[in-house]
Amino acid sequence: MARHFLRLGDFSVSELRDLISRAIELKRLQQEGAPHPTCAHKTLAMIFELSSTRTRVSFEAGMAQLGGQSLFLSPRDTQLGRGEPIKDTARVLAKMVDIVMIRAKDQSTIDEYAQYSDIPVMNGMSNELHPCQLLADIMTIVEAQGEIEGRQIAFIGDGYNMCQSFIEASGIFEFELKVATPPDYRPSAKYLGHNQHVEFVDSPSAAVNGANVVVTDVWSSMGHEDDTDRINAFDGFQVNSALLDQAQSDAIFLHCLPAHRGEEVDDLVLDDPRSVVWEESGNRLHSQKALMEFLLSNS
Ligand code: CP
Repeated sequence: MARHFLRLGDFSVSELRDLISRAIELKRLQQEGAPHPTCAHKTLAMIFELSSTRTRVSFEAGMAQLGGQSLFLSPRDTQLGRGEPIKDTARVLAKMVDIVMIRAKDQSTIDEYAQYSDIPVMNGMSNELHPCQLLADIMTIVEAQGEIEGRQIAFIGDGYNMCQSFIEASGIFEFELKVATPPDYRPSAKYLGHNQHVEFVDSPSAAVNGANVVVTDVWSSMGHEDDTDRINAFDGFQVNSALLDQAQSDAIFLHCLPAHRGEEVDDLVLDDPRSVVWEESGNRLHSQKALMEFLLSNS
């Protein structure tokens, strides 16, 4: 049976902790220029229903650095865009490649794909979750602060896929998560009351006060760009210097990017020394290399 990574909960806590340690080791090897072709001759297929910069480049470069190769597949250029069922595509690709990454509009598409796949499938983001981003985020927090357990993390903004992923992560990595969203943009019911480590608060200030880590994401995720009412609803939810100053003095700021400067975050914060967003984006590469290594050697 193939192992999949569709959500953080697909792995045990010890597997996830080992994966973060391996990612940090792979980063060191990469920086030292030491070859590490642990996935030689393996082929990764990447299916993108939605656009990407970081996910595509980090998976493609990562597989090359591990000695393998990758294929970029978009619905526009494949039979997926002409109605071939996802379950048929899953069974066909399993005969040709070794591992698949899929970014889909709906989590159900990724779940269905994995159900019919004999090879490992990784969730490259859906409307519900972004677990690969969380691997990079947790790695970044561990690198900056030594540990994640017991940390206080503030999530400010839209209760969408990144917020829901942080909610999932809080129960697994046992950090305290305070979430501030406008009333109409809370996470879906499935993630409300998910675990005892999550507290929903009334204001960004209440979430950030005393936090070790402050996180936000765009107010209009892919597919919501035409919903102009959002900008008004998020008034007061921008992460700016005045808000970040209410966190711990050594707090760090995370954003999965791309950022909409002047909306959910201002220029000063994004370029502030407390911002680790560039390191965070680079960690997509190392954490996903660790993920592919793990899945290919455990399936
Ligand atoms: N953070 C993230 O997933 O970026 P891309 O959409 O560019 O892949």
